Amino acid sequence: MKLTILGGGGFRVPLVYGALLGDRAEGRVTDVVLHDLDAGRLSAVARVLAEQAAGVPGAPAVTATTDLDEALRGADFVFSAIRVGGLEGRAADERVALDQGVLGQETVGAGGIAYGLRTVPVAVDVARRVARLAPDAWVINFTNPAGLVTEAMSRHLGNRVIGICDSPVGLGRRIARVLGVANPREAWIDYVGLNHLGWVRGLRVAGRDELPRLLADQDLLGSFEEGKLFGTEWLQSLGAIPNEYLHYYYFNREAVRAYQEAEKTRGAFLRDQQARFYEAMKRPDAEALKTWDSTRAEREATYMSENRDAAGAGERDADDLSGGYEKVALALMRAIARDERTTLILNVRNQGTLSVLDTDAVIEVPCLVDANGAHPVAVDPLPDHATGLVCAVKAVEREVLAAAESGSRTTAVKAFALHPLVDSVNVARRLVEGYTAEHPGLAYLK
Ligand code: G6P
Ligand code: MN
Repeated sequence: MKLTILGGGGFRVPLVYGALLGDRAEGRVTDVVLHDLDAGRLSAVARVLAEQAAGVPGAPAVTATTDLDEALRGADFVFSAIRVGGLEGRAADERVALDQGVLGQETVGAGGIAYGLRTVPVAVDVARRVARLAPDAWVINFTNPAGLVTEAMSRHLGNRVIGICDSPVGLGRRIARVLGVANPREAWIDYVGLNHLGWVRGLRVAGRDELPRLLADQDLLGSFEEGKLFGTEWLQSLGAIPNEYLHYYYFNREAVRAYQEAEKTRGAFLRDQQARFYEAMKRPDAEALKTWDSTRAEREATYMSENRDAAGAGERDADDLSGGYEKVALALMRAIARDERTTLILNVRNQGTLSVLDTDAVIEVPCLVDANGAHPVAVDPLPDHATGLVCAVKAVEREVLAAAESGSRTTAVKAFALHPLVDSVNVARRLVEGYTAEHPGLAYLK
């Protein structure tokens, strides 16, 4: 089975390869093709993978190419983990927004719109090529903003593209842990929304909803990441546990201020950190895997640190440092390739799940996955305030998709202006000016 990884020179590729190495079952991935525009990054990552594979019998063979069509031909699965504009682009997304006093996060608010406007045309090109060159392939989209990008690709690939994120999985795991659920896989997590904009409304174990027990227990509630980030009182008021990215909404002023005051924004930090890693990989005697792993550990430890500082939440729990998106990706691939039926929270077309959104809107929801793909499970409606946010943000996403298709600058302004975290049409206009001046990838906006 052939897996093609787009963005194959990306920093997190060894996580995916590590997960593949642990898969010994019949029908596993035997060939990995890394595609990237940058040959230097490809060879750096290939060195890490070679060290990971050393001594592992039957390790998937790895090849690398800068030719996209060659990479796609014959693929059974395509992981899309590209970063249009690189981390320099992410840092610019943050800077331009913060200069206007609004959030520049890569998936939320103005930053997410700018990143989406640059990424959608490229993702659509990839989707068209997959449809032509590997029509039977399944595409797993990691590229942020994951919900928006998955929806853009689904217009060309239908249900054969599925978006993934590890935030809901991490959230479910944390709740299960504090509730003392022995095997989190046995818990049913009632979660729904858009990517980075969802809420856990229940967690069922043996048919009983355990979330009320958590919400009623001040100590338990304050003991894990979301409790510390949002504060127990706010979680009790909501009666639900929001995805950590909702911190940018519920505590927007504090988050913006923390990012403005930070020595470096997240994108700038990662840009510099990864530049050091790729530079180190050029030395013939570099210890590739060791260097990669210490860089990864530092990245994990500092994840959302500005938000945690703003909330006085302290350090991350050691148990939260292992990430997990590679596990979601592997579980999804196994479920489809081998009909290993499972339930995963994924980004798929709504198909009537949330009645306030149309059928093609990509949402994040528990899905039953089998050889026929991912099937969203019926869920209770969201409370009104959450419905309001979901509808507002989906409307923004639709303006982004329309701007990317038409190349209309006016539509791009509308996308920014309609976002709940952009507080003035004038700010939206200045954001479009700032972003188009910064990013050659936005030159298509006329
Ligand atoms: C979480 C999010 C991902 C994001 C990742 C890394 O897992 O769900 O969408 O890519 O964190 O964030 P970072 O700030 O380290 O790039
Ligand atoms: Mn994510």
